[in-house]
Amino acid sequence: MTDPHPFSAVVARLRAAGCVFAEDEARLLLGTTADRAELSTLVDRRAAGEPLEHLLGWAEFRGLRVAVDPGVFVPRRRTGFLAQQAIDRARPGAVVLDLCCGSGAVGLAVAAELSDVELHAADIDPVAVACARRNTAAVGGRVYAGDLFGPLPPGLRGRVNVLVANVPYVPSGEIARMPPEARDHEPRTALDGGPDGLDVARRVIAGGPGWLAPGGSLLFETSEQQAPVAMALVRAGGLVPRLAVDDELGATVVVGSFAP
Ligand SMILES: C[S@@+](CC[C@H](N)C(=O)[O-])C[C@H]1O[C@@H](n2cnc3c(N)ncnc32)[C@H](O)[C@@H]1O
Repeated sequence: MTDPHPFSAVVARLRAAGCVFAEDEARLLLGTTADRAELSTLVDRRAAGEPLEHLLGWAEFRGLRVAVDPGVFVPRRRTGFLAQQAIDRARPGAVVLDLCCGSGAVGLAVAAELSDVELHAADIDPVAVACARRNTAAVGGRVYAGDLFGPLPPGLRGRVNVLVANVPYVPSGEIARMPPEARDHEPRTALDGGPDGLDVARRVIAGGPGWLAPGGSLLFETSEQQAPVAMALVRAGGLVPRLAVDDELGATVVVGSFAP
């Protein structure tokens, strides 16, 4: 980059690579480093399709700056709606479990909004677990590594007021059609939900009620198309299903609660 005005040079390079928000991204990348060579490398990597958040090392989620290490799922804006649904069901002092926590963004957002939350989180990917531990340390989060409920302390059984899980829910056959940013830079375990996208959700619905406190709720995101099947699964699992939708964010959340 020999342009004496790096901002315009970075914008032009990003625009040529198809970045829709080239100016915003250029500002963020320029804010990351004052070193020209390093900036040039970052711009090349972005132009080659790496997610901006992996280059910055953080993502903005519900007004919070959440660390996102390379290889960790980037929290999506629409998932702010899942976090809001969880917040709406949690009281100060609530026990909150963020399953499939990735960076820990959802649990962190809930704990940041309410006082005194006892936050537990878990993920199967050790890279995500390390990231979530850093992100949730300030709110006292305890983060476990392993398959869904497997690594949780047995003493948590029957105590969880809000179980929130942004499970992977992309049908296997649709992964190839995802944008390269996700397909090539986020782990398949973070995306692939099996043939109909609901394999992990099925396991959460089957295991979740045993961890819920009386009156507790279980929440997860789906696509609009998956919602009717997901609601039926929740009902068959012994919980009362409810659907929450935010058209603006394109977010669909299925909530299962014990009958009052
Ligand atoms: C869609 S990402 C969501 C991450 C985070 N909750 C968020 O919204 O940004 C799904 C996460 O589920 C994790 N995961 C997939 N299968 C899992 C399993 N069987 N047990 C625990 N975590 C799992 C992945 O590693 C990934 O971090």
